[in-house]
Amino acid sequence: MKKTTLAITAAFLMLLGISCQKEESTIEQPQTPASLYTRVGGSTMVADPNNPSTMIESGRLTLRAVVDSSILIIAADPQMAKFFPVLFAELGAGNSNGLAALSKNFTDFMCVATGCKNANYAYMGLNMKDAHNPAKHNRMGAKATAADFDKFVGHIGAGLAKNGVTSVNNKQLVDDLVALLYTTKTDIVQQ
Ligand code: HEM
Repeated sequence: MKKTTLAITAAFLMLLGISCQKEESTIEQPQTPASLYTRVGGSTMVADPNNPSTMIESGRLTLRAVVDSSILIIAADPQMAKFFPVLFAELGAGNSNGLAALSKNFTDFMCVATGCKNANYAYMGLNMKDAHNPAKHNRMGAKATAADFDKFVGHIGAGLAKNGVTSVNNKQLVDDLVALLYTTKTDIVQQ
């Protein structure tokens, strides 16, 4: 091959290389949608307001705050009392250990269900069917109906609102969290 032909071929290959690189960098990568956990704060570590010497993931902090607000709202609803005989008896006797355990387990459950990957927040409680079956879980005082379930989810919606997430300012997030809760309905409603 002549020198000039070689030079032209080399230049052409170089150009081809550049244009391929350019094309690669402009190809749109498919975006994985952010998990619900990311949308409520994700894995960024922040100081835990309940215990300032420890750190907590921002997503977990949001979910714990919603769980704790919701438990208070549920506890104030007379329609819910028959489901929580053990918890309320403990609280009446000044013992909050069961409440702390429920808050932790419910928060762990929500973390895992929304897509948290931190192994420290793994859910170690009962599965939803057994947790809500009085024959298998003595802390569950009665079987829940569909109406009880809807009311309970309504209380969690109120718990979300107490923490600044409402259908007015973040309808999509509320809808997605409520839809997630509804995935448990067939296991929890047992009459
Ligand atoms: C909306 C979806 C719901 C979710 C995601 C949920 C989740 C949970 C979780 C994670 C626990 C802890 C289980 C354990 O510690 O092993 C629990 C316990 C319990 N849940 Fe639910 N639950 C839901 C709805 C309901 C409903 C509708 C009722 C009653 C109407 C109910 C009543 C209870 C009771 C009584 C306990 C035991 C509380 C205690 O520790 O004393 N839950 N639930």
